[in-house]
Amino acid sequence: MLILGIESSCDETGVALVRTEGQALPRLLSHALHSQIAMHQAYGGVVPELASRDHIRRVIPLAREVLASAHESLQDVDVVAYTRGPGLAGALLVGAGVACALGAALGKPVLGVHHLEGHLLSPFLSEDAPEFPFVALLVSGGHTQLMQVDGVGRYELLGETIDDAAGEAFDKSAKLMGLGYPGGPALSQLAQQGDRSAFKLPRPLLHSGDLDFSFAGLKTAVLTQAQKLGDQLGARKADLAASTEAAIVEVLLKKSLAALRQTGLTRLVVAGGVGANRHLREQLNAACERLNFRVHYPELHLCTDNGAMIAMAAAMRLQSQPPGPQGLSTAYSFDIKPRWPLADLA
Ligand code: KG4
Ligand code: ZN
Repeated sequence: MLILGIESSCDETGVALVRTEGQALPRLLSHALHSQIAMHQAYGGVVPELASRDHIRRVIPLAREVLASAHESLQDVDVVAYTRGPGLAGALLVGAGVACALGAALGKPVLGVHHLEGHLLSPFLSEDAPEFPFVALLVSGGHTQLMQVDGVGRYELLGETIDDAAGEAFDKSAKLMGLGYPGGPALSQLAQQGDRSAFKLPRPLLHSGDLDFSFAGLKTAVLTQAQKLGDQLGARKADLAASTEAAIVEVLLKKSLAALRQTGLTRLVVAGGVGANRHLREQLNAACERLNFRVHYPELHLCTDNGAMIAMAAAMRLQSQPPGPQGLSTAYSFDIKPRWPLADLA
């Protein structure tokens, strides 16, 4: 089965082709991505209307590109998958609209995919694919969750952020330091030259005894520290970046280990944009090696939003028996869910 996947939930347009053969792990044939970061940079964040318009411009050329590089023809596509939610409504409508139009024209079904399920299953695209069951740490710009994953569509929420997401904490702190948007990668790069213990920043909910997160207070502490530094902020920016990153990573690390202990599972899967963070990977690798846990990541370039994870999630869902409530559709109804808890999939 040949599956075309389309991602358009936020500020990246991604398209990919995946092939399934029996129950073997689906194979990624090709994928292409257009990032809107440069376009939104001037505004300091994503402008939803501009995002939607840019998705319209990019999606068909990207689809042509992935078909050409995989030497496949559009007529051979069996299913068109798209990100159904969560995300920006207008941006999601572009992907859903294009998927429905292609599906209707080809006489093939469409499948709406949960964006976070895409992230969650993205490590299956890497050489070192995980096995079920595992604990998943989902850390993106909009979400921070720990899930127990027993199989495709079998997700149990263990804990989540009660306010800002980890990516948001990176982005907002970076903005306060004048590092632009999205600030995560820039802050992380600057942090490499700084002293992680230079500033004492809070580790919110670290000892709360549950698996929930809170990052709003950290952002306020970074703001207070930046104001205190005043003119000296420039000279101490790397130290503040390093201290901020250390605070976020320590909380993510400790809560992930607590989730492994609580569930009795031995495998951790990290997914979402913040999963690209080098310090987080180093800390998780060291702790998991020490404690005899396995840790899996998506390939670096597939940590942030992309079409491959959507095509892959669709493929794995179609292989799972039965495919579940989010099944194939020929209603072509532009069905989107801007707000959609992942646990509702189960
Ligand atoms: O998964 P993603 O592409 O989009 C959402 O679904 O939200 O994640 C984007 C988030 C942004 O907040 C970005 O700053 C963060 O991931 N991010 C990073 C790094 N690369 C991306 N945060 C810290 N370190 C990084 N290297
Ligand atoms: Zn995402």
